[in-house]
Amino acid sequence: MATIIDGKAVAQQLRELIRQKALARVASGLRAPGLAVILVGQDPASMIYVASKRKACAECGVTSFAYDLPADVSQAQLLAKIDQLNADPKVDGILVQLPLPLHIDTETVIERIRPDKDVDGFHPYNVGRLAVRLPLLRPCTPYGVMKLLETTGIPFKGQHAIIVGASNLVGRPMGLELLLAGCTVTTTHRFTRDLADYVGAADILISAAGKPGLVKGDWVKPGSVVIDVGITRLPNGKITGDIEFEIAAQRAAWITPVPGGVGPMTVTMLLQNTLYAAEQLHTKL
Ligand code: GUN
Repeated sequence: MATIIDGKAVAQQLRELIRQKALARVASGLRAPGLAVILVGQDPASMIYVASKRKACAECGVTSFAYDLPADVSQAQLLAKIDQLNADPKVDGILVQLPLPLHIDTETVIERIRPDKDVDGFHPYNVGRLAVRLPLLRPCTPYGVMKLLETTGIPFKGQHAIIVGASNLVGRPMGLELLLAGCTVTTTHRFTRDLADYVGAADILISAAGKPGLVKGDWVKPGSVVIDVGITRLPNGKITGDIEFEIAAQRAAWITPVPGGVGPMTVTMLLQNTLYAAEQLHTKL
């Protein structure tokens, strides 16, 4: 039976460290790290995520600036808000919650954020820095997964890591993180044939497809580390991942639950990035 990786506990420990560092800054006469969180419209899932990000800021001594814009805000108005925050010396990080309404071009918005305030790590500059092994602001979910993997104490070098899903937000940067750590990386996606064979070869399995039940438990390699990034709300209200947990847990050495695995880490790494931006990138702001 696998050991459960308790993401909630790991996230809590990291948040306590972030809080201490944020408070120490203020005690030494510096300003608190500042995060601007922009929500466009009223998507229910986005409203929940944004609320949890703002709450986490308050708990960790990070000042949050809230901008709730109507669903019909123009792209020009949103870009003007970003320009204003780019120039604001109290703001270390700017987060625009995704997805955006269809009349707004997401890539244009992401690329408008100053790379040194892009605490989501989505700007092509930051993705490129990670690709050339010079990471600055790292995409939060893959960064959080790396922190969870580190808690197992397993060595990374030479391990075969399989990533299920090739999204810009998780799958692709996840591959870059694991490559940087010395893994042999395979990324599977919707056109991959024989997914079971890849999963069966994974020393480290990361599923980030957002499709409940996609990864069968009996595909999992015995003794492997299994990380489920999927978060799907079922019609009955229950939150579930991509992987058949009960069966996979009989085979894996380590496994994350959903909820309580990767989810709490994503918000924590956002705070970590905001603190990093304040301490390392904005010493003159
Ligand atoms: N939507 C889903 N995940 C994320 C995330 O990590 N950051 C932002 N900004 N939007 C998201």
